[in-house]
Amino acid sequence: MCGIVGYIGYGNAGDIIIEGLKKLEYRGYDSSGIAVIKDGKIEVRKQKGRISNLETAVENEHFNSTVGIGHTRWATHGAPSDANAHPHISMDKTIAIVHNGIIENYTELREWLTKDLGVIFTSETDSEVIAHLISLYYDGSLEDAVYKAVEKMRGAYGIGVLCSKEPDKIVAVRKDSPLIIGLGDGCNFIASDIPALLKHVRSIYLIENNETVVLTRNEVKIYNADRKEVKRDVFHVTWDEDAAEKDGFDHFMLKEIHEQPKGLFETLNRRLDKNGNILLDGISMTKQDLEKFDRVYIVACGTAYHAGMVGKFIIERFAKIPVEVDVASEFRYRDPFIDDKTLFIAISQSGETLDTLAALREAKKKGARILSVVNVVGSSVARESDDVFYTWAGPEIAVASTKAYTTQLMCMYLIALYVGYTKGVLAPDLYNEYIRELKFIPDKLKTLLKTEGDILEAAKGLYKKEQVFFIGRGPDASVSLEGSLKLKEISYINSFAIAAGELKHGTIALIEQGSLVIALATQDRLFEKMLSNIQEVKARGAYVIGLAKEGNKEIEKQADKVFYIPDCPDDLTPLLSVVPLQLLAYEIAKLRGCDIDKPKNLAKSVTVE
Ligand code: G6P
Repeated sequence: MCGIVGYIGYGNAGDIIIEGLKKLEYRGYDSSGIAVIKDGKIEVRKQKGRISNLETAVENEHFNSTVGIGHTRWATHGAPSDANAHPHISMDKTIAIVHNGIIENYTELREWLTKDLGVIFTSETDSEVIAHLISLYYDGSLEDAVYKAVEKMRGAYGIGVLCSKEPDKIVAVRKDSPLIIGLGDGCNFIASDIPALLKHVRSIYLIENNETVVLTRNEVKIYNADRKEVKRDVFHVTWDEDAAEKDGFDHFMLKEIHEQPKGLFETLNRRLDKNGNILLDGISMTKQDLEKFDRVYIVACGTAYHAGMVGKFIIERFAKIPVEVDVASEFRYRDPFIDDKTLFIAISQSGETLDTLAALREAKKKGARILSVVNVVGSSVARESDDVFYTWAGPEIAVASTKAYTTQLMCMYLIALYVGYTKGVLAPDLYNEYIRELKFIPDKLKTLLKTEGDILEAAKGLYKKEQVFFIGRGPDASVSLEGSLKLKEISYINSFAIAAGELKHGTIALIEQGSLVIALATQDRLFEKMLSNIQEVKARGAYVIGLAKEGNKEIEKQADKVFYIPDCPDDLTPLLSVVPLQLLAYEIAKLRGCDIDKPKNLAKSVTVE
């Protein structure tokens, strides 16, 4: 949510920063801006809309500056506009800032700065107070002024600061918003996320909460909250730049859908030893720990929450422990019952989602053991957990999550099977059989992806619908939620998912002639019940698309159209059944002319409450 990039070196800061911002556009894209220091003065350019607008606006201005900061915004305070875009500058134009996060006490700070100190604000943002505060406290040292300003602020922030009086320096500070430093040769960078820097550096410092960083061309110094210098190990990024490129696909989303077989293969195989047993390498939970846990909480947001819902089903089934799943923004304020017998599982692609992080901290305070399922190595959720189970999806750029979801599911299966087997509540032959079946999934998924053409054909008849219902039972009900989310977030169709058995308790009132219902019927033991639910909506005029396992042809008598997934055990179908739904959402959104990788109002990494 909001991306920041800063550069100090000998190259053209303007070009380097705009290029970096483009790689962070998934974090927010309603406006963007850049500030550089040129001839001892701060120059700011900012523009409503996509980064391409900013790029066009500055095209012929050769800033010829070697130090600057930039920002891509996801509006929180104040509508998207040129004035509200970052960077913001102080009244005397000596300080420029970019900010990711929210300053919670900005109203009171703004009032104080306006009334008592005569500051005139030029935007409606919370962030602008930061520039004025730093300017107020500036007395010859930018880092001193930043320290003092930060003491006044409550909330979450990743901030980059320029000062025209100290043109060979960038100061950055973070609390609860991500910040990384890229270490170059004669140049250094700040950024919210790794893709912004991949073109230039592979050596990174991960900045911790409440740390301040002072960057010059040849040096980076990190200070903790007590202003003591701290040493940090260099983190080496292993992704190559191509991993964050579209690679011939029209959209990142489609590329990422197609990367799922690989992501699943990696996530599974990195956790299997040479005998095919699950290996929780680097995870310190012992058999005694596992036996001690009497409940599990799975907490996450968005798509990761939907993965958690399947996780509940699987963990209860294989590991025989009661599981509660909650969205992080609710969990953190509901005073849940947690003690040292609780296993808390946080799921997060980015590892930076503020609500998930806050929920994790809450659970930790109450004594829970924290296991996180995270994609971004070294992210905040990963760093603050007792143990981390990494997904091996590779960088996910499209705002709508796909490969992160299926790899998160794979982690859920591995955790459930491991715990069940280790505790002795899952029979060894079942444990072995499920591992064997999991190994087939990547290839089955490759086969399934070949049906993309059929899905496109179906989408052609559906893309004008304005309302869609998803129904399913058991794990299909959870996958329905994810299918519905995919469709609404990228195509803006009003879609709704509900457990099929619950339909008749209210929602069926909405079904009318021509309503589109997508019915997931992949569970053998629930198949007949689903056929009845399909009949109920058909009787009211619905057009039904069924989703079933290959061979279950009976559904063709009820549904108007059927997509099939390769045969597999009922418990594993979510790994496959979500994929036709991802593709259908993609094709429909494409036919509707939507901006698939950057849907309106959304951002990939949500670092505000
Ligand atoms: C945003 C994204 C979703 C994602 C959710 C949680 O809303 O648009 O795709 O599922 O955040 O993100 P996380 O990084 O914690 O998985």
